[in-house]
Amino acid sequence: MAQINDNFIKIPATYLFSEIAKRVAQHKEANPDAPIIRMGIGDVSLPLPDASVDAMIKAAEEQRHAETFRGYGPEQGYAFLRDAIVANDFAAKGLDIEADEIFVSDGAKSDTGNIGDIFSVNNRVAITDPSYPVYVDTNAMGGRAGEPNEQNVWSNLVYLPCNVANNFVPQLPTEKVDLIYLCYPNNPTGTTLTHEQLKVWVDYAKANNAIILFDAAYEAFITEENVPHSIYEIEGAKEVALEFRSFSKTAGFTGTRCGYTVVPKAVMAFSENGEKVALNKLWNRRHCTKFNGTSYVVQRAAEATYSPEGKKQVKALIDFYTENARIIREGLEKAGYTIYGGKNAPYVWAKAPEGMGSWEYFDYLLKEKNIVTTPGAGFGLSGEGFVRFSAFGSREATIEAMKRLEK
Ligand code: MLT
Repeated sequence: MAQINDNFIKIPATYLFSEIAKRVAQHKEANPDAPIIRMGIGDVSLPLPDASVDAMIKAAEEQRHAETFRGYGPEQGYAFLRDAIVANDFAAKGLDIEADEIFVSDGAKSDTGNIGDIFSVNNRVAITDPSYPVYVDTNAMGGRAGEPNEQNVWSNLVYLPCNVANNFVPQLPTEKVDLIYLCYPNNPTGTTLTHEQLKVWVDYAKANNAIILFDAAYEAFITEENVPHSIYEIEGAKEVALEFRSFSKTAGFTGTRCGYTVVPKAVMAFSENGEKVALNKLWNRRHCTKFNGTSYVVQRAAEATYSPEGKKQVKALIDFYTENARIIREGLEKAGYTIYGGKNAPYVWAKAPEGMGSWEYFDYLLKEKNIVTTPGAGFGLSGEGFVRFSAFGSREATIEAMKRLEK
């Protein structure tokens, strides 16, 4: 008798963004002419940088000819991309990361979801609340989350509430944890941690033999000083933290797919019999077994984001969305909302009107204003009473949305 992984029965039947897409499709079907503005999922609206498209065309042409054709590449990523990542994202900022500590992939969603493969089911997992739903869902699939209650709060997860009362800064847990998911700049709240605030977590991890899984997918949106772009800016982090990066939001790769994970060779965890094991070795083994590498053409596109013209074009994309975020922040404030985030991140976290739940307010905005947001409750219990606005839309749609809300 074939048996399923029962953990799949326990998780919500649909992934958050699939549920939103379903509701939007229903609304569209009932109102085919509705002028819908999408500020829900963080999907980019501007095209890829020219430098990346040119690189893809060139790489595709290479694939046409026997002399330049490439089949399987290194599972970890081509040296040209790993070296460019090291030089630009780390060495240029004084951070000592080596090429064999970089694992190129098809994006941070896959990596943050798959990383659980190398960790025991017995780990106690801490997750900021609210958080990107992949962290909770994949730990639930892997059997580390325990049982959910009717509010989808899992019995074995340690939630680190991030709310108005603590200024969205997670407090250290009162019980010992082994794995800690941190995402900064934060999805969904758009808030950040300072160097000092992040250091508290690195120190905790060092003192407790814990590992930090640091999702830095939005680091390119940081505008303020004293907000770390990488956890490796914090002393000691290279011994206790993995970092996830993505080209999706930075360079418009949501559909092209490329990201990478940094697994420093000094990061160790323990086997059942107490032996220290390097996570780099395990992740390499996992990657080689389950992944055949990001396509050559896409890796060339990612490499091109580091060329002089690529850098300029990427900066223009980030500046564009950052300006959208400013328009949203100011528009929402003018319309009377209490808002957070959106200064170093493409997300603005807005309080729903008093007494309205997240999903209720999401439905109201969809049906009455034709604006798609993401309900805060979809990111966890502490997200209840909030909705998230994404700044990845067109300028015209962003301005129009704010006009609708002003009314
Ligand atoms: C989001 O909207 O939270 C992100 O776009 C989802 C993702 O990156 O998978």
